[in-house]
Amino acid sequence: MSLKNKVLAVLEENKGKNISGNDIAKSVGMTRSAVWKAVKQLRSEGYSISAVTNKGYCLSEESDFLNEHSVFQNLKTREIGRKIDVFKTIDSTNNFAKSLAQLGAVHGTTVISEVQTQGKGRMGRSFYSPVGMGVYMSVILRPKLSVEHSLLITSCAAVAVAEAVEKTTGLDCKIKWVNDIYVGEKKLCGILTEAAINVEQGGLDYAIVGIGLNIQNTSFPKNISDIATSLYLETGKSFSRSLIVAEILNSLEAHLDNITDKGFIEEYRRRSNLIGKRIEITHNDISAQAECIGIDEICRLLVRYDNGEEKALMSGTIRIVK
Ligand code: BTN
Repeated sequence: MSLKNKVLAVLEENKGKNISGNDIAKSVGMTRSAVWKAVKQLRSEGYSISAVTNKGYCLSEESDFLNEHSVFQNLKTREIGRKIDVFKTIDSTNNFAKSLAQLGAVHGTTVISEVQTQGKGRMGRSFYSPVGMGVYMSVILRPKLSVEHSLLITSCAAVAVAEAVEKTTGLDCKIKWVNDIYVGEKKLCGILTEAAINVEQGGLDYAIVGIGLNIQNTSFPKNISDIATSLYLETGKSFSRSLIVAEILNSLEAHLDNITDKGFIEEYRRRSNLIGKRIEITHNDISAQAECIGIDEICRLLVRYDNGEEKALMSGTIRIVK
């Protein structure tokens, strides 16, 4: 770890409190003047660190820059998020995570960025990812799952996000199959899972779970302003992105451990906002209306078309018909 990062770790651990240059120097094994240099560097990166004579340094409680140390403060996992790469800017965290996975990155490796210049959504759409406003992160997973069970990975991430948001904000979150998180009628978070198959072993090699969660946004571009929301717009409050990231990772690991259990899919169903509703399904540019009659044990959407035909869907874009 670089000296600057060591100092940042101590400041994050003591966020909102004063800690003397001497104590920092001792705990990281460097001189006080090296500590001062590191603090200067961190300030130039935007960290708000006060320095008061006889009191020491203090990282502002309001500081919400994402970094591995701030996430680690609340991380309770064994593997997920134990290796985190944080970027100031990136094209897409999913793209970067995919290249890391191809190089052999371990299960749970997480990539986060303050902004994405080419954030990707499902169906080739883009994902609006303005600087500092949200959580844009991708987690590399190497679960021992057959391809048939791959939908469960996305569902797991959806439940994890819903739980983390509820825990930190108290908002009630629903899941629109398969992976959109809604508060009321508006979308708060989208998830894009990209997977690679191991042909020889007939299972998943890795999956990249990309999560885009709107947090501080006060407005959205015209084309999505009617359908998108953020935690700030829903509550009028600000929330720590580092805390939310940690809670998502905690919950993701807990659910991944039980991904094929009945209890997990029941939890997913409980959060579904589609069951019992009339919906429109669009697949390959063809749309049809049906009733959503359930979600099966591998998370396929069960629908009944108007001619009485029933189907279990693996993919498709769903709209609730009013
Ligand atoms: C959707 O709503 O269609 C899915 C959106 C997924 C967005 C996230 S943000 C982090 C990760 N990197 C990307 O490029 N996309 C996902």
